[in-house]
This record gives sequence, structure tokens and C-alpha cells, in this order.
Amino acid sequence: MRKRISAILTIFMIFGLVLTGCAAGAETDMKNSGTEIVLQIGNPNMTVNGAEKAIDSEGTAPLIVNERTLLPIRAVIEEIGGEVGWNGETSEVTLTYGNDEIKLEIGSTEAYLNGKKADLDTAPAIIGGRTMLPIRFIAESFKFEVKWDGETQKITVSNKVDSADSAIASEDKKEAGGKKSAVIYFSCTNNTKRLAEKIATATDSDIFEIVPKQPYTDEDIDYNSDCRANREQNDDLARPEILTVFDNLAEYDTVYLGYPIWWGTMPKIINTFLETYDLSGKTIMPFCTSGSSGISTSVKAIKAYLPDVKEGMRGTSSTTEEEIKTWIENSK
Ligand SMILES: Cc1cc2nc3c(=O)[nH]c(=O)nc-3n(C[C@H](O)[C@H](O)[C@H](O)COP(=O)(O)O)c2cc1C
Repeated sequence: MRKRISAILTIFMIFGLVLTGCAAGAETDMKNSGTEIVLQIGNPNMTVNGAEKAIDSEGTAPLIVNERTLLPIRAVIEEIGGEVGWNGETSEVTLTYGNDEIKLEIGSTEAYLNGKKADLDTAPAIIGGRTMLPIRFIAESFKFEVKWDGETQKITVSNKVDSADSAIASEDKKEAGGKKSAVIYFSCTNNTKRLAEKIATATDSDIFEIVPKQPYTDEDIDYNSDCRANREQNDDLARPEILTVFDNLAEYDTVYLGYPIWWGTMPKIINTFLETYDLSGKTIMPFCTSGSSGISTSVKAIKAYLPDVKEGMRGTSSTTEEEIKTWIENSK
């Protein structure tokens, strides 16, 4: 066992990539700074900032194959605010995080970080339908922290370095007397998360996720059944607890508040957020994603807490930066 663990440590960890459903050449501009993900060998769940959730719907768990640890990297990279692309024709994997891009090719020890060639000690390979990527290179390139605990067989991946960087940048902006804005969003299936990231980029805002204390499982949001989300929406008193602590909201003049529409209005966790934090005096700009419903009912609900709330925007995955800027201009 010890030999196995030391072999794992020697070669460091290798991430396994589940390629199904990956969009080629995807790019993201925003990082979920301060995200800490803990995974464990054989466990299909991971924790993201302490909240437990399934790694994917297939029940994929990190595993050790040939003394190497395989993790489903897609979930990790996406949770941390990056994206994964796969080009089946060229067998190329593209990882993007913030402004950095890594390109790797199956079977090749040549990798490219922002177009600059680098040599890998281990070539990415497909084993059992998964692409194995050298985590040391990825972690160093994206400045993630990766820790391996041999006793508990836990792997911790975090982007705290970036968090510190962005805190400094944030502080700089404040000292320079600039107005600061934050995008704060809740999202279960990432539609609102993607829109939130676009808004954060378009407005140069810091971005924060409202993470529920009890994560929503697929069953919890299966709205054709008597699911948790439906029960909460039908219960005036439901206030799902929030795991995230927002202790620096005083720094922000403007808050872009995002959520999916659930049964015509905002999810009850947004009520929890509005009742927990005092946002009075700030410019509040609500935005949502939905199947088709508009945002106006939820804006009315926010008005009960914050009478000066601005006009909301319903967005989609194809909402453009120009549309975001027009919404902001029209709200002035
Ligand atoms: C419990 C529940 C209720 C929903 N109710 C509505 C609705 O009333 N109108 C609508 O257009 N979409 C509705 N949707 C669809 C979501 O608003 C839509 O899929 C949204 O983009 C999900 O955002 P997310 O990926 O950020 O979680 C509902 C989804 C769930 C889970």
C-alpha cells in the first residue's frame, strides 16, 4: 500500500477526463476564485467549498489504475470556473481557465500553454474510455493548489492563489476610488452560472456563487415530480440554508443578482439571501435564465425587500456582451 502511495506521489496525480458532451474549443473568462474541491478514491461524490455533490450523473468516481489516480477532470475544471474542450478529429484536449489555455494531445508529450510549447513527463492517454492528463502541469499552469492525502486517499484541488490575486486587485480598485460590482448567482444546472460569468466579464465584476448548504440533486429539481424544489416553491416559509458566507458585501456598490426561474419566480434560496444580507443602498440588477418565463414576477418579489431594484434581464446561453451592456445602460 505504502509503495503504491509513494508511486502515486512520485508520478504525482493524473486526472482522468470524461469526454462525453465536451464542447470543442470552449473558453471562459471568469474564475470562481476561492473554490476548493475535495475528491476521494472510489467516491462518486465530491465536495465543492464543503457542499457535497455528485461528480457527474454517471456515478464516476476517482480511481487508481496502474498506480495512477484518475479524476474526472471536467467536473473539477468546470466547478473551478474553467472549461474543457475535446476535438475528436485531432484527439486534442483544450482546457481553458481565466485567460490561460492548455492544449494537449493524446499520445504526445508536447503540450501548449497559451501557444507556448512545454514538455510533459507523461503523455495524455485514453485508458478505459478516459483521457488521462498530467495534473502537475495543469495545476502549475493554472496556478491551482493540489494536495494528496495518502491516508484518506483524498485529493484537494483549489484555486486559492487566484483568490488572493483577485482580492489584491479588488483592493486596488477600491483604493483607487473605483466603484466595485459583484455578480452573485445561484445555479443548479449551470445555465445561470454561464450567464453570470458573461456578466462578470462584461462588467469587470467579482463573482460569487450562492452555494446551498444542502446541494440540489437531480431528483431535487425534477419538477415533474413532488421534488424538493417544488415543495420549497410552494412553501411561503421555506428558506433553504446557504453555505457561502458573504462577508465583504460592503465593498460593492452594485450587485448583479442571478438565479433560474422556478415556477415563475426566483428560487426560495434567493429569499434566504435577501433576508440574510443587507443590500440597501446598492444598485441591484437582477438577471435570470428560464425555459421561457420572464423575470418580472421575481423582480416584483425582490422589490418587497429592495424597492429600488432595477429592471431585470432574462438571458440565455447566447446572450451577448452587447445585450448585457444595453441592459445596464437602460437601467441607468
Ligand atoms: C423546479 C423548477 C421549476 C422551474 N420552473 C420554471 C418556470 O416556471 N418557467 C420556466 O421558464 N422555466 C422553469 N424552469 C427551468 C429553469 O428556469 C431553467 O432550466 C434555468 O435555465 C435553470 O437554470 P440553472 O441551470 O442555472 O439552474 C424550472 C426549473 C426547475 C428545476
